[in-house]
Amino acid sequence: LTRATPYTSLPTILLLGPSGAGKTALLTLLERGPLSTSTNPAQAAPTHTSQVSSAIQLAVSEDGQSSWRKDLDASGSTATSFLLVDTPGHGKLRAGALEKLGGAGKTGGKKGEKASTRTKAVIFMVDAADSEILATDAAEYLYDVLLTLQKRTVGTKTSRAATSIPVLVAANKLDLFTALPAALVKSRLETELGRIRKTRSKGLLEASVGTEEVDVPEEGDDWLGEYGSEKFKFEQMREFDVEVEVIGGSVAGEGGPGVDRWWRWIAEKI
Ligand code: GTP
Ligand code: MG
Repeated sequence: LTRATPYTSLPTILLLGPSGAGKTALLTLLERGPLSTSTNPAQAAPTHTSQVSSAIQLAVSEDGQSSWRKDLDASGSTATSFLLVDTPGHGKLRAGALEKLGGAGKTGGKKGEKASTRTKAVIFMVDAADSEILATDAAEYLYDVLLTLQKRTVGTKTSRAATSIPVLVAANKLDLFTALPAALVKSRLETELGRIRKTRSKGLLEASVGTEEVDVPEEGDDWLGEYGSEKFKFEQMREFDVEVEVIGGSVAGEGGPGVDRWWRWIAEKI
């Protein structure tokens, strides 16, 4: 790895998602990939609930065709280095992760904006075998992530245009036979995001009823996607320059699709 490259100048891929989705497992796998071809025997890294963010430096070849298993430094090819940042998925530890998305929205300070200029893409990982969490915790978290990105676009429309941050919803654990296929993960999440959108907009209305100083919410302020639409679809995020793709894969287990398609997505976006 090129130690001379200042850490902060590298493009960053942010790994988000609820606890237990497999974020740290993915980081560990990708980190060990290149190592396993060198003389260092790869060590089995244990995963446990993350409490802090951590980052590893990875690289894709310039044509974007290199495998994650390949040690690009050893092969001497020109490569694009980037950081993959793992974040804790626990509900109480998400604020820091969302801050990294920054933006010029309501909460976006100078610090947040700086960080967001380095964030090239977001991988939102979910456990496709846990439909309970998928419909509740994962959906709530994804709603917050997408709304942050939406506000980031809306907030910067008048000044400097924010570079768009694409989102990969990585449907993980497809090695398990109980896992929903990616297409179903997608529609399930869309249904739940639509439900959350309805609930939250109701809350806004009720909050303004009966109060003297009516804090009228601006149109679509906290409404995710196309304003007033009946159903939520990920495609509605395009209006805000946020491209969302749902791709299945597996970090561990036998017979799953692996991580190749996610890696290709990364190579495309970096
Ligand atoms: P937090 O750190 O709490 O946010 O969770 P995390 O997203 O980092 O989850 P972690 O990587 O610790 O994985 C949770 C559990 O899922 C671990 O026991 C992993 O071994 C397991 N796991 C991860 N990916 C897969 C997969 O593709 N298939 C199967 N069967 N298990 C997986
Ligand atoms: Mg973790």
